[in-house]
Amino acid sequence: MERTLVIIKPDGVRRHLIGRIIQRFEEKGFAIAEMKFATMTEKLAKEHYQHLSNRSFFDDLIDYMTSGPVVYLVLTGEDVIDLVRKMVGATKAADAVPGTIRGDFALPGTENIIHASDSRDAANTEITRFFPPFDTKKVEDAKK
Ligand code: PPS
Repeated sequence: MERTLVIIKPDGVRRHLIGRIIQRFEEKGFAIAEMKFATMTEKLAKEHYQHLSNRSFFDDLIDYMTSGPVVYLVLTGEDVIDLVRKMVGATKAADAVPGTIRGDFALPGTENIIHASDSRDAANTEITRFFPPFDTKKVEDAKK
């Protein structure tokens, strides 16, 4: 089954939109495979947005993404990558169509509520980045 990574960004959390956003994905029929609430470290934010490191807004983007806790979700379902991107809507608030998450909730500016993987390769890389494989045996061994 296809998987994608979604991040409800710090403004989505601050504005109490977690429940409404997750509800949309559940109502659509996607399953939540993983979920985590944590503040992104600067190291992980820089890695996640490394392809934008030469852009003028890069420092603002890193400050924003590390400014408070986010919700990381792995969603699964048929065509989940494309369908979630459609549900998220366009990057810029002015271009985001009503009915999409950004179209309904995002204001102009850097803060645009949510991130979703844009390809199968990106989804695999991002899922591994934010949900590194968890070795239960190692944890058990460390307790001994
Ligand atoms: S671009 O310009 O085509 O590379 O941008 P895009 O692919 O649409 O967006 C990539 C991510 O960069 C964020 N972004 C910005 N952040 C701050 N300021 C400005 N001006 C800006 N423009 C784009 C955008 O929200 C995308 O973040 P994610 O988390 O991938 O949605």
